Amino acid sequence: MIIGSICHSSVFFSVNLANIKKISCKIVSFFSLDIIYYFYGLYLFHFKVFFSKTVTPMKNLNFQKLLENNHLWIQEKLNEDSDYFEKLSKGQSPRYLMIGCSDSRVPITSLIKAEAGEVFIHRNIANQVNLNDINLLSVLEYSVEHLHIKHIVVIGHYNCGGIAAAVDGVNQGLIENWVSPVNELYYKHKEELSLIEDNHTMCDRLSEINVIEQAINIIKTPILKRAFKSGQFPKIHAWIFDIYTGKIVQQDLKENSLIENGLLPKNYFEVVNSEN
Ligand code: CO
Repeated sequence: MIIGSICHSSVFFSVNLANIKKISCKIVSFFSLDIIYYFYGLYLFHFKVFFSKTVTPMKNLNFQKLLENNHLWIQEKLNEDSDYFEKLSKGQSPRYLMIGCSDSRVPITSLIKAEAGEVFIHRNIANQVNLNDINLLSVLEYSVEHLHIKHIVVIGHYNCGGIAAAVDGVNQGLIENWVSPVNELYYKHKEELSLIEDNHTMCDRLSEINVIEQAINIIKTPILKRAFKSGQFPKIHAWIFDIYTGKIVQQDLKENSLIENGLLPKNYFEVVNSEN
């Protein structure tokens, strides 16, 4: 009986061992699945975050919400200063003209925390300074000759659709015509750009080249030439809004060489440093 019970228990034990093996296998496979699900979940999470960041980090405001927000904004401003709108309606004397891309992700005044009345703005796709653009030239003339602004900033940005359109030529619409000067820039700098393997990085470098070129185009306008002759003129800047970090990256305009080749007056630094 003892032997029987030992046998029985050994059988029982061996059965148990087998069961344990099966159970442990199931546990291991369960955890393996769990690990797979865990990483799959992480993947989905990052996938979601990636797209929510690249496609729509905004709140998708509905139309009615815009008007409600306007009401809230009025209240905020009046809470800060009960005469806010009375003062705002008196006139403007901004120190800055900014020429930026129309892209909705480049909120020019928000990213430098500027208030109403502080920045005169012109925007178009890929922040072009076209010497035949009567819209831009009117803005430039008014801001230089009447508002006497102290700084002109052309602000481009990374991940610019206009720049990509100029490179890819896939838009097949008016944008292609509009950004054709960028396409020319692309071919002009192809030797440097072709060394950059990643297409996004290459387009971002072209954004930098473009913003410098457009800032130089500002200098070439008759409006700025007149201002240089008058002895009072604004300082010209080229900025890139790094859309991946939010940071503004100042681009080097190489003013000394622009002075050397006669595009900027000899007293450029003297005037802009004392005036601005
Ligand atoms: Co853009």
